[in-house]
Amino acid sequence: MSSDSFKAMIKSLRLPVIQAPMAGGPCTVNFVASVLKEGIIGSFGFAYSQAETIRSELSAVRQMATGPVNANFFIFPALHAPNEADLAQAAQALRRLDIFDAWSTDHRYNPQLLDQSMQKANTAPFFPSLYDQLEAVWSVRPQLLSFHFGLPPSWVFEKAHSLQIPILISASTLSEALVIEGSGAAAIIAQGIEAGGHRGYFDAAASLSPHDALTTLDLVEEVSIHCKLPVVAAGGIMNGQAIRAAIDRGACAVQMGTAFLACDESGASIEHKRLLTEEPNRGTVFTRAFSGRYARGICNRFTESMHDRPVLPFPQQNTLTGALRQRSAQIGDPEYQSLWAGTGYSQCRTESVKELIARLEQNDRISN
Ligand SMILES: Cc1cc2nc3c(=O)[nH]c(=O)nc-3n(C[C@H](O)[C@H](O)[C@H](O)COP(=O)(O)O)c2cc1C
Repeated sequence: MSSDSFKAMIKSLRLPVIQAPMAGGPCTVNFVASVLKEGIIGSFGFAYSQAETIRSELSAVRQMATGPVNANFFIFPALHAPNEADLAQAAQALRRLDIFDAWSTDHRYNPQLLDQSMQKANTAPFFPSLYDQLEAVWSVRPQLLSFHFGLPPSWVFEKAHSLQIPILISASTLSEALVIEGSGAAAIIAQGIEAGGHRGYFDAAASLSPHDALTTLDLVEEVSIHCKLPVVAAGGIMNGQAIRAAIDRGACAVQMGTAFLACDESGASIEHKRLLTEEPNRGTVFTRAFSGRYARGICNRFTESMHDRPVLPFPQQNTLTGALRQRSAQIGDPEYQSLWAGTGYSQCRTESVKELIARLEQNDRISN
């Protein structure tokens, strides 16, 4: 039932595209409204948002545009406070960054930033309550719900089914897709290795072994062969030809994040947009250093310096690096912010959402 309504929703779109949920700034109300106005699905990345923000942003977007809205959340693991030695070691790894060196000539970063974040990383709650976050969702009722890092609890499925809200869940391997298949979800988001942002693997402690690192198209094909649920392709899809290729391999739609990041309306930082459009040769890297879980972003001094250094579990590491990332954004320095982006980021352009969608539609026609 919910798979059918999801498929019908996709059929009603101008293009089979979901603008990816992107927590941490890009998905402002104005940005999501601009996406909806172009006739595709607009998503909010509410992972770190409190209920009040969720309620007000979902209501605000409804005042600005119609069309299907997706509200996205993380499934955070149960966590204890970090033990003293782990916290000290992870903080020490950050203190060893050049900018905190006593001889550094860069005085824009004060090591006291780390003291504030250490205190926060050590204090529960370590992440927002999913129950409280979803209370906001039930009252405003977006058209879709999606989850990253695993399955939501059964009460979420029950409530969503009673309100007829389809649930989408990310898989980065076939075995995760098979678990989603039996869960009551409406569709599987097959997230390939090219994808920007956090990889949605279920087991936070898992290492990234190369054998499960499938490209988006290979994963889509494998999941489509073995699962009956509709498949949404995510990762490295930057133009109309790539949308077509994903559909040809079995996807019913695609989820695109990086392609939207440099759009005028996106809330990504100015430095993030500048690197996306002007520094194609930096390339991307998978790193746990910002948040404690693997995510793909543009290489910068932070990702280079922190390579192989100890980190706290997700999301405590995210909290530990919080003040440093904020300071970096505040002073317009791209080197210590997380600049999430997929492998296709060199195709990003400075353009409006309207221009991007027209370009995707145009490429799609050409490749038909
Ligand atoms: C800046 C950024 C933030 C992201 N945040 C989230 C998020 O909050 N929730 C989520 O499910 N996926 C998130 N993702 C992953 C996307 O859902 C999607 O898998 C990815 O963008 C697809 O690859 P692409 O960036 O190459 O298009 C994020 C991606 C980016 C680029």
